[in-house]
Amino acid sequence: MSSSQMISEHIQRIAAYKSENPAEEIERQLGIPIVQLGMNENPFGPSPKAVQAARAYLEKIAPYPDDSAYLLRQRLASHYQISMDEIIVSAGSSDILAMTYDALHSPEAEVLTGEASFIVYYQLAEILNMPLVRTPMKEYAFDLEAMAERITTGTRLVVLANPNNPTGTIIRRRELDKFMSRIPDHVLVVLDEAYFEYVSDSRYPNSLDYVRAGRPVLVLRTFSKVFGLAGLRIGYGISTLEIVAALYKVRMAFNTNSVAQIAALAAWDDREHVQKSVETNRVELEFLYRELSKRHLGYIPSQANFVLVELRKPVREVTSALLTQGVIVRPAWGCPACMRVSVGTREQNQAFLAALDKAL
Ligand SMILES: Cc1ncc(COP(=O)(O)O)c(C=O)c1O
Repeated sequence: MSSSQMISEHIQRIAAYKSENPAEEIERQLGIPIVQLGMNENPFGPSPKAVQAARAYLEKIAPYPDDSAYLLRQRLASHYQISMDEIIVSAGSSDILAMTYDALHSPEAEVLTGEASFIVYYQLAEILNMPLVRTPMKEYAFDLEAMAERITTGTRLVVLANPNNPTGTIIRRRELDKFMSRIPDHVLVVLDEAYFEYVSDSRYPNSLDYVRAGRPVLVLRTFSKVFGLAGLRIGYGISTLEIVAALYKVRMAFNTNSVAQIAALAAWDDREHVQKSVETNRVELEFLYRELSKRHLGYIPSQANFVLVELRKPVREVTSALLTQGVIVRPAWGCPACMRVSVGTREQNQAFLAALDKAL
């Protein structure tokens, strides 16, 4: 049997996800410093207290980590006023998403999501050969009416990013309530709230209310974004006891390392750092809006730490021209003339705008 014969057809069909060279390598090749605005990270990094906690813990990495992430779940449970057993901690929220697909997967189980959202939602369905339904977006946001229409007896998983990546739009409380009232019991709704802390719109729903009401909802949050710990890989999910128990069954043991857990605890406690990061993000978003408008470029107002910019040129031309100047941004999934730019520090945003002027 040749290697290609041993690989299932549905895996062979998957277009390889081409990850870029690491920033350090691009920096070396170009010989100029890189401005990384392609990954929606916190440009101010983690709380110094988290760094200090992680550094101090390095002496203790011989033992396996606490597989239950006891202390972190305890802290989260007390904050959210829920049971520790309604929380799962794992190596990033995308890892919990993968476990969710694994736990709910069966030959007929269908995944329903939007046309332009987080690429991982599509990749996971492809890997497991799950039927995937992607409904068109409406004004750059999820069209929940259209999605509700597409729910069938086969639908097992509805995946919504709120705020959405790459559009930065949110689903509002009233829309979500209405949508949830149409969700049958055989469907789990994943509310991926990776950018939750950045949202300022008062109409943003409190997703935990659904969990508290026993609805089939899984809320995902992460330490990768505002907490600045993407490199350590740690995130959490909140759902009903049954769903969380099922996720633990498919989770790989010891996948959340001890340094990440310690750093996450310290990052969680440093509210000042979070608040400062959120406030600066708002100021810088406004700055970017003004500067984009001056250049007659359209953008979608964002509730996250990135903004979708509408270009008048094929996006690849612009992103390549930016890259030669050391600025990394992303073409936006599902929109051929849009790019997604993370909000950086003022210096980074200015470097982006200067590079953009040359690129256009
Ligand atoms: C919508 C969304 N969900 C999840 C993630 C990944 O988060 P994590 O690092 O916790 O896996 C991202 C990262 O870009 C994202 O945009």
